[in-house]
Amino acid sequence: MLAVGLTFSQSQKRMWTPNKIPANAQFVGQQACAECHGDKIKTHAKTLMGRALETVAESEILRKHPKLSFRTGPYSYEILRQGAQSIYRVTDGKETISLPVLYAFGLGFAGQTYVLQGEAGLYESRLSFYNDTHGLDTTIGQSTDVPTSLADAVGRLMSKDETLQCFSCHTTGAVKGGKLEHNGLVPGIGCEACHGPGAEHVALGKQGEPNAHKIFNPGKLSGDELSQEYCAACHRSVEDVTALPRMGGLNNVRFQPYRIFNSKCYSDDRRISCIACHDVHQPMKEDAAFYDNKCTACHNTKQSPESVSRLCKVATEKCTSCHMPKVPIQGAHFKFTDHRIRIAKPGEPYPF
Ligand code: HEC
Ligand code: HEC
Ligand code: HEC
Ligand code: HEC
Ligand code: HEC
Ligand code: HEC
Ligand code: HEC
Repeated sequence: MLAVGLTFSQSQKRMWTPNKIPANAQFVGQQACAECHGDKIKTHAKTLMGRALETVAESEILRKHPKLSFRTGPYSYEILRQGAQSIYRVTDGKETISLPVLYAFGLGFAGQTYVLQGEAGLYESRLSFYNDTHGLDTTIGQSTDVPTSLADAVGRLMSKDETLQCFSCHTTGAVKGGKLEHNGLVPGIGCEACHGPGAEHVALGKQGEPNAHKIFNPGKLSGDELSQEYCAACHRSVEDVTALPRMGGLNNVRFQPYRIFNSKCYSDDRRISCIACHDVHQPMKEDAAFYDNKCTACHNTKQSPESVSRLCKVATEKCTSCHMPKVPIQGAHFKFTDHRIRIAKPGEPYPF
């Protein structure tokens, strides 16, 4: 079972790639982990990653807002709750298009985007819900101009490839071997999305012989593998961003593996890898002081070979508040944290 989907990375460690799930992978479901890892199940349920996709029936945002409306040019929009469903409706006053919302994507700091079932295929809704205004506005990446037709007003028809990609980054194994399976879709990034199939580990555990080697533990990867391969499978690596037109522009602040790679702090050292600062089994800490000892793990006064002698003359706490500035993206309703740790000079242009 373990051989399934594991590839060998540079250092010849087994690597499970969370969004490239092979066709024959069999998941047991995370209820099966609860018996022995109940603490992680509880805290993980509160993370945004754990809820990166929601079914329409469950979507708290759609339930709490039974009627959402928006207007642009001659087009009026409504998202209406009907029982356990939500209907996305656009009208120009003469004609109306009504489509059922199929899934709610993202529970993030910024907001939620809807995937709609249309005749031609799946659409990414032109409008998204934003947490700051508790209302609808244009989806990031879509045009903010007045739509050119009623069909255009609905949203963007997603290509087959794009659809597969969306679901592979926001679910646990809905895409296997390059095929999307809606039946029994497991929303969000669950335990096995990151740790791979757990059946053998569970079975041995139940026999009283838990064997750590029978489940993938990303904690054993090197710092660079963690940041540029493992987390970057979804958060996007240097390689991914370099391939984007204009390096993704200002939007690349959302791609932490890329941003941190260009910081002078970055190396293969695990103290600067994603998991040095983030425990993915728990909601992210939003308090700057929480991160201080992550920085001083290297920037300290001890002249040991592992520490960096350069110290800050300006302050001794809340390091990230100055060195990881928050960057607003137009239309995103959210300021992302720039992971390119640096001396950020006031008024300097954003370093792409
Ligand atoms: C019957 C109890 C049991 C169940 C069920 C169980 N685990 Fe474990 N798990 C353990 C024990 C005990 C360890 C520590 C093993 C050791 O140190 O040898 C462990 C270790 C792990 C590790 C660390 C492996 C390593 O290399 O250090 C991971 C990851 C893990 N479990 C994930 C899961 C996931 C995901 C599930 C659900 C699919 C799950 N476990 C279900 C008992 C269980
Ligand atoms: C390569 C993996 C990947 C793909 C493909 C992908 N996403 Fe995401 N998505 C992410 C990650 C990582 C985040 C969190 C970081 C961020 O907000 O950019 C995210 C965040 C989001 C958010 C929440 C924004 C916020 O922070 O509030 C929404 C909504 C979203 N994605 C929708 C989609 C939709 C719809 C698609 C397909 C059209 C899609 N995503 C494709 C990885 C992906
Ligand atoms: C299978 C895809 C995937 C992988 C792998 C992944 N992420 Fe995410 N992550 C996401 C998506 C999607 C979101 C956005 C969730 C949302 O806003 O609804 C996210 C959000 C986050 C957040 C925001 C806070 C929260 O509570 O979730 C942090 C922090 C994060 N990821 C860190 C990591 C780290 C560290 C790793 C590697 C150990 C990692 N992610 C691996 C897809 C992924
Ligand atoms: C976004 C990816 C991701 C998800 C989702 C995830 N894990 Fe992990 N898990 C990791 C990483 C990365 C590590 C290594 C952490 C470290 O070494 O600091 C880890 C380590 C572990 C360990 C061993 C170390 C420890 O802290 O005991 C266990 C057990 C574990 N995870 C269980 C689970 C369970 C159960 C779930 C589901 C509730 C889960 N994980 C969900 C990425 C993930
Ligand atoms: C040195 C510490 C550090 C490291 C290493 C780190 N982060 Fe962060 N991360 C932070 C801080 C600080 C925040 C902002 C917390 C807050 O104030 O809300 C953050 C926020 C985030 C967010 C939420 C979106 C945002 O822009 O605020 C995501 C997603 C994320 N980190 C992913 C990652 C990934 C993936 C990696 C590895 C490439 C990583 N982080 C490495 C410190 C770190
Ligand atoms: C793995 C060790 C490590 C960690 C963790 C680390 N740094 Fe660094 N940092 C370095 C190294 C190495 C340099 C480059 C030193 C040099 O050039 O003399 C550096 C340089 C810097 C610089 C100067 C950058 C410039 O543009 O000249 C700043 C500011 C900085 N770090 C702040 C931080 C902050 C804030 C944190 C926590 C969020 C942090 N570092 C975490 C290793 C680290
Ligand atoms: C109030 C904003 C602020 C805070 C908070 C802050 N710094 Fe700085 N830091 C600066 C500025 C500004 C500089 C550039 C000073 C200069 O060039 O003279 C700097 C310089 C540095 C340097 C480079 C020193 C050198 O010799 O070039 C490092 C490393 C650093 N800070 C790390 C940290 C760490 C670690 C923390 C938290 C313990 C921290 N900073 C907190 C603003 C801040």
